Amino acid sequence: MAHESWVEIGWAVRGAFWGRGYPSELGRAALAFAFDTLGVRAVVSCTIRHNVRSRAVMERIGMRYAGEIRSRGLVEGLEGERDDAPYAVCVKDGPRRR
Ligand SMILES: CC(C)(COP(=O)(O)OP(=O)(O)OC[C@H]1O[C@@H](n2cnc3c(N)ncnc32)[C@H](O)[C@@H]1OP(=O)(O)O)[C@@H](O)C(=O)NCCC(=O)NCCS
Repeated sequence: MAHESWVEIGWAVRGAFWGRGYPSELGRAALAFAFDTLGVRAVVSCTIRHNVRSRAVMERIGMRYAGEIRSRGLVEGLEGERDDAPYAVCVKDGPRRR
C-alpha cells in the first residue's frame, strides 16, 4: 500500500561530471515529475551513510533527513558488502491535495 503513495529517486553521474550541479538538477526534475505528473504524496531517497556527496544532493534539493535503515551494501572502512549496512533516508512531502 505504501508504494502506491510514494516513490524513491536517485542519481549517478560519471566522475568527470561531478561538481557541476547535474545530479541536483536531475533530483529537482525527478521531484517535479513525482509530484506534478505522478501525483505521489511523498518521495524518498536513500544512500549509504557515508556517501556525503549524495546526501548533499538530497539536502540541496530540499529533502529532509528522516533516519536510517539497514540493508545490504558497503560499510565505511570495511571491505565488501554487508547485510546490515547503514543507509541514510531523506524524505520530501508533496503539496497537500484535496
Ligand atoms: C552522488 C553524486 C551524483 C553527486 O554528484 P555531485 O556532482 O556532487 O552533485 P551536484 O550536482 O549536486 O553537484 C554539486 C556541486 O556542484 C557545484 N555546482 C557547480 N555548478 C552548479 C550549478 N549550476 N548548480 C548546482 N551546483 C553546481 C556545487 O557548488 C557543488 O559543489 P561542491 O560539491 O564543491 O559543494 C555523484 O557523486 C555520483 O554520481 N556518485 C556515484 C553514484 C552515487 O553514489 N549515487 C548515489 C547513490 S544513492
